[in-house]
Amino acid sequence: MEKKQELYSGKAKSVFATDDNDYVVLSFRDDTSAFDGEKVEQLSRKGEVNNKFNAYIMQYLADNGIPTHFEKLLNETESLVKNMKMIPVECVVRNVASGSLVRRLGVEDGLELNPPVFEFFLKNDALHDPMVNEYHIETFGWAKAEDVNKMKELTFKVNELLKKLFADAGMILVDYKLEFGLFKGEVYLGDEFSPDGCRLWDAETRKKLDKDRFRQGLGGVIEAYEEVARRIGVPL
Ligand code: CDP
Repeated sequence: MEKKQELYSGKAKSVFATDDNDYVVLSFRDDTSAFDGEKVEQLSRKGEVNNKFNAYIMQYLADNGIPTHFEKLLNETESLVKNMKMIPVECVVRNVASGSLVRRLGVEDGLELNPPVFEFFLKNDALHDPMVNEYHIETFGWAKAEDVNKMKELTFKVNELLKKLFADAGMILVDYKLEFGLFKGEVYLGDEFSPDGCRLWDAETRKKLDKDRFRQGLGGVIEAYEEVARRIGVPL
């Protein structure tokens, strides 16, 4: 597989073509951003940690029946993935109230949510990723109704699998964001799953082990990501 020209550069990852149009190289950079790209810093080792973390989670999900774009790790910071047409909608599940839910509804941070809450957001930094619903997604043609249902079903299945994976390692999966795409007409999980796109708290102390450490300037960001990786057995 030969790596070719850069196709796209996002806030934390870049995408490169390969000699096979069905596959692209996902390259994890050290760039770390928050607040729709307003706060950006380079955090040493982050690209490598997130690449390996994501590979482990994607493989775990695939082994448990979730269709994902992940094919294989290529090196420390790069993975081979399916070349998908991404759906510009983020799927968020929340098991515990935090972040924008608390700001929006004034509920207590840390409140357990039963049943978990599901939310869609439009991927659009200029509009600050506004919350949308199924009607917006269908009317504006961002995804077909059947694919929206599939995204929702898969996002909840991921919740059952990952809540347990992290709980068994002494952590609470507070919330997370997933993105999906279409490959040969079928819905697959895309993007990444790493502490950049979820909230994880230590079950005993409630210490934050995710990107909130960066957002809130708490320090020890990569050390926390590495601790999560070590606890669930990701080979770093
Ligand atoms: O993080 P923030 O308070 O701005 O937004 P949220 O709606 O509370 O985020 C819910 C979950 O989705 C958190 O785990 C975020 O890290 C994640 N998220 C993300 O990865 N990318 C976004 N553009 C928005 C949220």
